Parts: sequence; C-alpha cells; structure tokens
Amino acid sequence: MTSRTYRIAPSILSADFARLGDEVKNVIAGGADWIHFDVMDNHYVPNLTFGPMVCQALRKHAVNSSGAKVPIDVHLMVQPVDALAQAFCKAGADLVSFHPDASGHVDRTLQLIQAEGCQAGLVFNPAVPLDVLEWVIDKVDLVLIMSVNPGFGGQSFIPSALKKIEQARRIIDASGRDIRLEVDGGIKIDNIRDVANAGADTFVAGSAIFNTPDYKAVIDAMRAKLAQ
Ligand code: DX5
Ligand code: ZN
Repeated sequence: MTSRTYRIAPSILSADFARLGDEVKNVIAGGADWIHFDVMDNHYVPNLTFGPMVCQALRKHAVNSSGAKVPIDVHLMVQPVDALAQAFCKAGADLVSFHPDASGHVDRTLQLIQAEGCQAGLVFNPAVPLDVLEWVIDKVDLVLIMSVNPGFGGQSFIPSALKKIEQARRIIDASGRDIRLEVDGGIKIDNIRDVANAGADTFVAGSAIFNTPDYKAVIDAMRAKLAQ
C-alpha cells in the first residue's frame, strides 16, 4: 500500500461547550491536525449545535505552537446549504463539506464554496451511494464518508462504511486528483487501522478523544496504530 499522510480531526461536538476556546487549544496541543466543526440545524438532523459566529470566535484559537493556522473543517448538516456554506467561509473555515442530498444544486454549492477560497467537500450518509461523485469530481477537494447516521456523537461505527471507503478510494485514485478521504463516526483507537486499510487518510474522532482526560494520549495511540 502507498504511504499516506494521515490527518486526525477531533470533533468538538464532544468538547465542553462552556470552554470551547480552551478545548480547541488543548486538543491542538495534544496533536490535532484539523478541528472538525459539526454544524447541526434541527432540520436536516435532529440536533442543534453552533453557527458561523462560533466558528469566527474559535478561529483565533485554532493555531499551533508555532502560530501556524490549524484548519477548521466544517461539516454542514443543514438544509438549505448555500447561504450557511458561504457564511462559514467568511467566518474563517478552511474546508466546508455538505451532504449532496441537502443541496438542490450540488455543482453550484461546490462552486460557491471554492469561490470563497475554501476547500469543498461532499458527505455521504450510510445509506447514500457515491453516484454524484462521478459528475462533480473535478470540483471536490474532500470526500467524507459517514460511518454513523449524522446528528449525534458517541454512536457505533457502521461496518458497511468500510466497503464505501474502498469504493471512494478507487474513485479518487482514478480521478488523479488530490482529494482527501475522511471518515466520521465511531472512530476509536481499536478500529482506526481497519479504516485506514480501507483507504481513508483523514479521521474524525469526537467522543474517543474528548471523553477522556488526556487528549494527547489518545491521539498518540491513534497515530501509533496508523504507523503500524
Ligand atoms: C455526527 C458528527 C460526528 C461526530 C463524531 O453527526 O458528524 O463528527 O461528532 O463523533 P464520534 O467520534 O463520537 O462518533
Ligand atoms: Zn462530523
């Protein structure tokens, strides 16, 4: 297998919302590569989280010890998509991903995000096929495979996601484009290696990291599995 540059993207959905700035700083000190930012609207998914103003407030905290920007990876679970996608780009997001089934015009939404200077991603729920990728692959910077149904942290990994990751890997490699393949939901120290073996290079983990006292220990253990 070719060696990949792996990225770990802790989801602040499982962080302490009363101390979000410190949580972002602490998880970056623990080795986070990206900050995963789950936006839920109580319409597309049955839960409600935070909007562009919170992203803007966190932007200044998402820097590493050398002062370099740590990417904010916005996962939109909202419908409609376009206005919020643009608002998040203006609020300092680096990557903005959305569910194709939530957008009336997927190609247009991808273009809107890229026109704002952000990278654009498509997110696929467990029961949604990858079909649209064929038609918009030239405008996609990231493919995010959901390994749980979106809406909540702390759910169990759905095994059929592995097959979809393999399929997404084949499509990405055939495109010849530099596209990240991210997986979200139920990622733990114990399964991250299997998910990487299926072809993923970027791993969202919420409860596995934030529901423990030592973020660095978990991130180090995940990296050790990825290095095997
Ligand atoms: C679910 C979110 C995930 C979630 C992952 O809708 O998209 O990012 O926070 O949480 P864990 O890692 O706990 O499954
Ligand atoms: Zn997410």
